[in-house]
Amino acid sequence: MEKHIVVLPGDGIGPEVTKATKGVLETVAAQFGHSFTFETHDIGGSAIDNHGTPLPEDTVAACKKADGILLGAVGGPKWDNLPGHMRPEKGLLGIRKQLGLFANLRPVKGFDSLLHASPLKPEVVGGSDLLIVRELTGGLYFGEPRERRNNGQDVVDTLAYSRHEMERIVEQAFQSAQVRRNKLTSVDKANVLESSRMWREVVEEKKSDYPEVEVEHMLVDAAAMKLVTNPGYFDVIVTENMFGDILSDEASVLTGSLGMLPSASIRQDGLGLYEPVHGSAPDIAGEDKANPLATILSAAMMLRYSFNMNVEADEIESAVHAVLNEKYHTADLKIEGGTQVSGSELAKKVSEH
Ligand code: NAI
Ligand code: MG
Repeated sequence: MEKHIVVLPGDGIGPEVTKATKGVLETVAAQFGHSFTFETHDIGGSAIDNHGTPLPEDTVAACKKADGILLGAVGGPKWDNLPGHMRPEKGLLGIRKQLGLFANLRPVKGFDSLLHASPLKPEVVGGSDLLIVRELTGGLYFGEPRERRNNGQDVVDTLAYSRHEMERIVEQAFQSAQVRRNKLTSVDKANVLESSRMWREVVEEKKSDYPEVEVEHMLVDAAAMKLVTNPGYFDVIVTENMFGDILSDEASVLTGSLGMLPSASIRQDGLGLYEPVHGSAPDIAGEDKANPLATILSAAMMLRYSFNMNVEADEIESAVHAVLNEKYHTADLKIEGGTQVSGSELAKKVSEH
């Protein structure tokens, strides 16, 4: 298959981890007889430096024509004191919005050789393998009005959703469960919120389209507890924007290694932006110390969700497991008796596998 990938390296360690990942994608293309072409564009702080805006028109136009987008990270101290509209993260929020990416997918999986770094006991977190599907365009973060009233004595935010926004994210979650273990936990606060009651209705309506998927509803406070007491219980979790923001950050510490977590923001036709959960790590940028595995695993998600290349995606994920089982690691991971290597060397090991 021919696929065109837009690479947005961004700032800090972004260029290092995306370059390393491109090497792995080239290996996959050669191995499976695909043709991947790459085009690189600026976003974030580097775009501010080169074009005077965090999201240049060229970048948006290229992303709109891409089959998949791979992003490093944006931001750093150099741009911290610029006015709001000139902040690097505006580039990221802007591109997600302009492309209509409404679903954020964050898988969390424990790696046996890293379980000692988890804040949870290995027997609690071991074997956990879950996916959080978070709605990205609606809810409290976007609803109007949002304002101070009565001389600053009162304040209002608005939690608004359309049925359409709920339906498309719920469908995405059912489809994600179908390619995993067919178990979906819908998280809401239906005992107090009207929006959550409508959310439950939508889930109930959609479930007959996916008879093989087992569905349950869980209140968000209960889900927050269960994530740390029994994370292995979950397969796919689907929830609205703010609950998803909080639960995905909670879930991200389960495995104890920020450098290992991939993410995707996608839309219905399959176009997606794939990026590591971590930031631009300015403290280690330019030293070839950055762990590229979160970005490599994000590229595996691109193959799975945008290109329908499940075998190739599995191949990348098992190569990452194999490299860790051989105890190769970057400086951010502590593996007893392991061999510490640079970020580019670690990526090369993945390609070899
Ligand atoms: P961060 O994730 O960049 O770094 C936190 C700590 O983890 C640092 O000690 C860093 O060295 C380490 N770290 C992160 N990724 C690593 C990797 N791949 N390999 C090895 N070590 C790694 O978060 P921080 O320090 O809060 O933010 C730094 C900058 O990144 C800020 O400008 C922030 O706004 C931006 N940021 C960007 C994000 C994005 O582009 N999606 C997300 C989070 C932060
Ligand atoms: Mg968050």
